[in-house]
Order: sequence, then C-alpha cells, then structure tokens
Amino acid sequence: EAALEGALDAFRAGGPVCIHDFVDREGETDLVYPARAVTPAAVSRMRNDAGGLICVAVSHRVAEAFELPFLADAIDHPAIDDDPAYDTRSSFSLPVNHRETFTGITDIDRARTITELGTAAAAVERDPEAYTAETFASEFRSPGHVHVLRGAEDLLADRTGHTELGLALAAAAGEPPAVVVCEMMDDETGTAVTPEDAAAYADRQGIPYVEGKTLVEALE
Ligand code: 5RP
Ligand code: CA
Ligand code: ZN
Repeated sequence: EAALEGALDAFRAGGPVCIHDFVDREGETDLVYPARAVTPAAVSRMRNDAGGLICVAVSHRVAEAFELPFLADAIDHPAIDDDPAYDTRSSFSLPVNHRETFTGITDIDRARTITELGTAAAAVERDPEAYTAETFASEFRSPGHVHVLRGAEDLLADRTGHTELGLALAAAAGEPPAVVVCEMMDDETGTAVTPEDAAAYADRQGIPYVEGKTLVEALE
C-alpha cells in the first residue's frame, strides 16, 4: 500500500505523518512525529496547525523501564474514572519536563523534553537493564508540560488508539518506540478536523496521510 510506504519513509526521515484513527472510534487525525526528530519548529507546527494536546507515546517496555504508571492507576481521587466514550481506557501516564528546561512550555523547552524522551526510549531499546527509574528521574521531572502516553503491551492487538498506531508505525520504520502525537482541531467549527480536511492539509503540506485501518491491516 502506497500510503503505508509514504508514512514509513516520512518517519525514517523524521516525520511528520497524519494518522486518522477510525470513524467509529475518536474520528480524529493526529499529527505524529518520531520523538527523536522534533524541533522547536515542529512544536510550533503542532500548536498552530494541529492545536490539540502534545503528548509523547512510549512503548509498554519503555514505560516499564521508566516506571511510569497509567495516571488513572497512580492517583486515588473520586474524579478518577478511566472510562472514555470511545475506548475501554485512556493511555495517559504522567506529564514530564526534561530537567534542563525552564518553564517547560516554550517550543524550545518542549522540543528538548520530546527529543530527550526519544533518546531515553532508544537507550531502553539498546539495554533495558541499564535504564532505570532513577536514570529517568535524573533526566526528567513531573509534573511537566509534555504528557507521556503508555502504549498497550501488544500494541495493535490490544488497543488501536493513536498511541498504538504511532508506535506500530515507528516499530515498522525501525524508529525508537517514542512518538509525539497532537490532535488536529478545526478553528472554525470547534470540532476535530474531518478526515477530508486533514487529508487536504496533508496534501498541501506534502505530509503522508494514513488511516488506522491501513496500519492495522499491515502491522498488527
Ligand atoms: C491525547 C489523546 C489523543 O487522543 C491521542 O491521540 C492519544 O490517545 P489515543 O491513543 O486514545 O488515541 O487523548 O491527547
Ligand atoms: Ca483522546
Ligand atoms: Zn487519539
């Protein structure tokens, strides 16, 4: 499939890719980059062209090495009720900042946090024994301004959110298991952009647009 090949090539070159999940799930399109490749200009593009929440999805194995829990498991509060309308659970873990950031929110600070998460994920892939929660804590603090998402253990066989769709694409592209995702919002309607508008944006910008169905069929 040409859409998949284009997405793999884009990821290998540092992204981005537009990924629409499914009309019967969120029905949203996320702008997705391999975390290692994110620059301040890419964070600016996510803020301005996408406008959703900027999150970094890491694989189950990486989250285990970081000892980053699901947020819903980590906090005991009456509001905790991890039961979204579109899936059986969310993938949110903790929000973090790299320790060498100041406020954590600027494009430069967020790009630093995101690329360092990519570097840390690659380090876990190389040697999971060598990267501990203490290593993670020496590099990052929480609360912070980049939301970490935990991928399901069996990726697309377990869950088919943008979290897993992005991580499956990274794995297929030979990229480390850390991808940044940001939902594309429509400024006029106050809703998520339609798949048609997302595809038209992608076309204008020379960004591959791929459907969740294509990724599941090829990569699950
Ligand atoms: C974080 C989200 C987004 O939907 C993001 O795409 C990751 O979530 P999911 O894996 O559920 O699609 O809620 O802003
Ligand atoms: Ca969501
Ligand atoms: Zn999503």
